[in-house]
Amino acid sequence: MLDLAVSRRAILMSAGAAAAWLASPARALLQAAGKVAVPAFVDQLISRMTLEEKAGQLQLMASAWGGGTALSLNPPGNGSDFQQQVDEARQGQLTGVFNGNGARMARILQTAAVSHSRLKIPLIFAADIIHGHRTIFPVPLAEVASFEPELARRTAEAAAFEASGAGIDWTFSPMVDVARDQRWGRGVEGGGEDPLLGSLFAAARVHGFQGADLKSNEHLLSCIKHFAAYGAAESGLDYNAVDISMRRLREVYLRPYKAGFDAGALSAMASFNEINGIPSTGNHWLMTELLRGEWGFEGFVVSDYTGDEEMIAAGYAKDGRDAARIAFLAGVDMSMQSGLYRQFLPALVRSGEVPEAKLNESVRRVLALKAMLGLFENPFRRIDEKREAARSMLPRTRALAREAGRKAIVLLKNDGDLLPLPRSGKKIALIGPFAAGAHDLVGPWVVYGDDAKAVDLATGVRAAVADAASVTVAQGSGVEEPLAGGIEQAVAAARAADVVILAIGEGANMSGEAQSRTEIVVPAPQQALAEAVAATGKPLVVVLKHGRALALEGAVADAPAILATWFLGSETGNAIADVLFGAYGPSGRLPASFPWKSGQEPYYYAHKPTGRPNPPGELQPYKAHFRGIPNSARFPFGHGLTYGSIEYSGFGLSSPSMPANGAIQVSATVTNRGSRAAEEVVQLYIHDRVASVTQPVRELKAFRKVALAPGQSQVVTFTLSPGDLAFYGLQDRPTVEPGTFDVWIAPSAEAEGVHGSFDLVA
Ligand code: BGC
Repeated sequence: MLDLAVSRRAILMSAGAAAAWLASPARALLQAAGKVAVPAFVDQLISRMTLEEKAGQLQLMASAWGGGTALSLNPPGNGSDFQQQVDEARQGQLTGVFNGNGARMARILQTAAVSHSRLKIPLIFAADIIHGHRTIFPVPLAEVASFEPELARRTAEAAAFEASGAGIDWTFSPMVDVARDQRWGRGVEGGGEDPLLGSLFAAARVHGFQGADLKSNEHLLSCIKHFAAYGAAESGLDYNAVDISMRRLREVYLRPYKAGFDAGALSAMASFNEINGIPSTGNHWLMTELLRGEWGFEGFVVSDYTGDEEMIAAGYAKDGRDAARIAFLAGVDMSMQSGLYRQFLPALVRSGEVPEAKLNESVRRVLALKAMLGLFENPFRRIDEKREAARSMLPRTRALAREAGRKAIVLLKNDGDLLPLPRSGKKIALIGPFAAGAHDLVGPWVVYGDDAKAVDLATGVRAAVADAASVTVAQGSGVEEPLAGGIEQAVAAARAADVVILAIGEGANMSGEAQSRTEIVVPAPQQALAEAVAATGKPLVVVLKHGRALALEGAVADAPAILATWFLGSETGNAIADVLFGAYGPSGRLPASFPWKSGQEPYYYAHKPTGRPNPPGELQPYKAHFRGIPNSARFPFGHGLTYGSIEYSGFGLSSPSMPANGAIQVSATVTNRGSRAAEEVVQLYIHDRVASVTQPVRELKAFRKVALAPGQSQVVTFTLSPGDLAFYGLQDRPTVEPGTFDVWIAPSAEAEGVHGSFDLVA
């Protein structure tokens, strides 16, 4: 149906473009189609397209507007100038652009497409809306620390509201790659180390971005990326090869993608990596047999940025023509940025190397999505400069960023209840490169956000205390370079204060794409600063900034209080101050384990027992452990303290056994013995003692966040059914075997909590 209200606005704002659109063949076909299913209309259109026009619908390019925003985030590709891009739109050589800037740009390009191209097919505008558009929310990994998928749905929806006001139809998000090696920089964009938690957040984000109706001009088409197993890169080196068993792939890495598609995501992005020798972009099994065949995916697949062309360097394609052929035949419908599809697909069809029917199929998928997004009805439905400004950084969106920020913070340690700090009566030294200043706030993978519009820590702390003059700021160090005289100044500030807040960690450019690290530690100059400040003996609160789990050492690890605060976005300072001074009791839990040492990576809680597990406690000879460090994480997955004092007791099972077609209830009592309210994330883990395939020491199966007033108890009950006990068996399918299962209800993946066991009986 024609969206009359929006169309009228489009006509007022761009009369020429709209008039041309109203007379266009695409529009006529749509009207003729009326309420007929979209594919019929699309097929009529396809029947009128030249091979060049078809290939154009499969070619996406970085916006060249103002030099091309994407070029600052991605390596320079086959960039063009903006006028050239407008001409390409007129000639039908472009399906859309990404990471351009705003409604003004979109209007110019869309006008070129719907006024001046032969078939007037509207463009689609894409962007990396990874954790917010103008209002920046916590980095995705941080948000997962909330253990609250509904929060991610809400922030994705708020990001979609802002972005869709700025002419954007499609986001390259969520990134759902499981990341178990913290050296890899891109874990910051995803859902952490656990497939269940990652899957729940993947689905929540898709729901938030897409809403109930893709035509809504408050929502975006979502893209699941990077398909597949990008996070399993060997040694955590970005872009590196992945060599992985089918079992590990299916049980761990594929699950969040599947969850995202099941939630309704209608686009997917191929990953840069190879899997077992085949680049994803050229992997027919992955893109066609699994994704479309087994999973029934009906949307379209886009390559990653020049991913098709990169098969040449990878040694899988001879040249650009070969790369285009391989990627297309594997099942990649749309090429991003290389230009290879529009350059070579017409000739490949003419030579018979690519069947035209297959080309039509891909074009049909893309046009059907453009139709579902409402672009044929009104190509300007999301393009409105006034609306763009009116939706930008609204107070309610900033309030959500603050809520998300404080829920993402994890209290790693709080010896002697140093936190929360009193709001008055203490002189505070706020020390470190992240203490103050409009830098490193919005974090990695931000296209449109602005540090200058974000609240830094000093501002947040000064606003929270009774007397702003009680706060002294000293930078102390650069992020990766020492600062001349910095340590002396910081030590003097610490000596003059009653308590030190030390804001240290990673800069925003140290995680994200192509930012793999060999040592996942606090950079040396900041570690030196921490040692010097700690030596003053003043009570020390470490506030960490980071895009990954870190291996903490020395004075940082020994500090009595440590907060993991990631990159929290526009409301960074306020969110951290809320937790520091107790306006909000910390409720976050680690979505990725903090190891003792970098050399433990990849470290993840759900590892296998081995035949020689080191029993809890002392390291024993000829048992599986690294020399000199405990056989565990320093702070495991799921860990996070509260300002209360939570006790687990009263483990209960509804029965000693679970019938193969039944279920079992597992319960525990959680009690807040402290004097402050707390929110506890109660976690349920299982271990299958003996199976035909060895099983991880523990696996998360369920969790629940419960609010507990001082002195309050609550019985938390989970239901497990046989499906929760399945693994990928010898017959290449989910398998449930009778046997004994250990079960824990615990505050982290490595805490004892309360536990027992039950039998699954045949
Ligand atoms: C990244 C993708 C991103 C794309 C477009 C690539 O370098 O891997 O995650 O969506 O660029 O900016």
